Amino acid sequence: MEYFNSEYFIYKNNQLYCEDVSIEEIAKQFGTPTYIYSKKFLTDRYKEFESAFKDIKHTIFFACKSNFNLSVIRTLGNLGCGVDVNSEGELFRALKAGIKTNKIIFSGVGKTLNEIKLGLGNNLLMIKAESLQEIKLINEVANSVGKIAPVAIRVNPDVDADTHPYISTGLAENKFGINTAEAFRIITEEKGLANIRFIGIDMHIGSQITSVKPYVEAVAKLSDLYLKLQNAGIKLAHLDLGGGIGVSYKNEKTFKVAELAEAIKPLLIKLDCDVFFEPGRFFTANSGVLVAQVLYTKKNNDKNFIVVDTAMNDLLRPSIYGAYHHIQPVKINGGRINFTADVVGPVCESGDFLAKDREFTENKQNEYLAIMSAGAYGMVMASNYNGRRRPAEVLVDGSSYKLVRSRETFEHLIYDEEELLNK
Ligand SMILES: Cc1ncc(COP(=O)(O)O)c(C=O)c1O
Repeated sequence: MEYFNSEYFIYKNNQLYCEDVSIEEIAKQFGTPTYIYSKKFLTDRYKEFESAFKDIKHTIFFACKSNFNLSVIRTLGNLGCGVDVNSEGELFRALKAGIKTNKIIFSGVGKTLNEIKLGLGNNLLMIKAESLQEIKLINEVANSVGKIAPVAIRVNPDVDADTHPYISTGLAENKFGINTAEAFRIITEEKGLANIRFIGIDMHIGSQITSVKPYVEAVAKLSDLYLKLQNAGIKLAHLDLGGGIGVSYKNEKTFKVAELAEAIKPLLIKLDCDVFFEPGRFFTANSGVLVAQVLYTKKNNDKNFIVVDTAMNDLLRPSIYGAYHHIQPVKINGGRINFTADVVGPVCESGDFLAKDREFTENKQNEYLAIMSAGAYGMVMASNYNGRRRPAEVLVDGSSYKLVRSRETFEHLIYDEEELLNK
C-alpha cells in the first residue's frame, strides 16, 4: 500500500500528523468528516510562486473557487496575494476575508447584471469579459453610473491542455473566452464602448495541467496578440495567464513553477506589462485532507467494501471526474495488507465512492482514514445531498489548530423552509 507523504502530512510514530498536530486528535475533537488544511503548505506554495517569477513584474490572484474558506483566503491575502472570484458569492467571501477591492479580479463566463454592477460598484481591479454581449452590458452599466470600466478580454487561444475534458477550457470548442482575431477586432474597432477601458488580455486553458508545453503555446499566442495591439496603438497593462498548474495526486509527474517560469519568461520579457496568475489547485490541493471514520466493512459476493462516514456530497471529485485520492490510515496498525476494497459513502448512489479497488489491511470499524490531496475542489463542491450536513474545516498552524468552519447544524439544512411552511 502506497502512502502519500509530504513534509506537511507525515507519519510520526505511525500516527498521521498535519504539521505538528495529530490528525486523530482533531478527528476526536471535532468529529468526522472534517477537512484539515496546513497553513504552512499554503504559505510555502505562495512563496514558491513569488520566487519563481521574482524577476518579472507579476501579480498573483488566488483562484478561490478551489477553496473559499475565509481563513484560507485570508492566509493567502495576508501574504500579499490578490483573489480571483468567479461569482458574487465568491466576491462576498473575498471581501469578508478582508481582501482589498483593488486586489480582486472578477472572472466568469456568465456574469449576471447584478454581478457586473457589483464588480463596478466595488471598484474591482478588473472585470474579465468573455463575450461581446457581456462587454456591451458592462459598457451600459458603467455608462449608467458614470464610470469607465476596467475590462480584460478572456481570449480562447485554442490549445489543448491535455487534461480531463471537463476541466479543459482553452480549446476552440469550449464555451470559454473569445478567439484571438475577434478579441483584436473588438479592442481596436468595436464602436460604442465609450465606458470601457481595455486593460488586459487573459487566458485560462484548463486545470490540472502537467506539462509546460500548452502554456508555452498559449502564452506565445497571447503575447503575439499583445504585440499586435501595441502596434495598433493600444497599450495593455497586463497579460493574465490564469491558473491550471497540475499537482500530484497519485504519482503524476508534474512540473515545478520554476520550470514554468523558465519556459515562458523569454516570451514575457518582450512585453512591457504586468503578468497576472490565478493559481487555485496549486495552492490548495495538497494543503488539505478529508478525515473520515470507517462505519462498516462488508463483502458482497467477491467484492469488499469499506463504508465510511464521508461521501460524494463532501468530496465529489472521485464521482464526477473519476479522480484519484490516496486513502490511508490515520494510525498505521502494522497489520498485513490483505484486503482489496472500494471505499464508499452512505449516499444512495452507486456513484458514491471515494476510491475503487484499493489495498488495505483489513479495516476495523471506527478506524480513521485520511483522504489525501483534498484541499482543492473539495469543500467548495460539497452539498447537502441526502440531507447530509457539510463537514467541519480546521486550519493547522505548526502545533496549533483552529476550527475555521463548524460542521453545519440541522438548522442549516432547512434554512427558512420551516418558517415558510407555516406561512
Ligand atoms: C478563470 C480561472 N482562473 C483560475 C482557475 C484556477 O484553476 P486551477 O485551480 O487549476 O489553478 C480556474 C479554474 O477553473 C479558472 O476558471
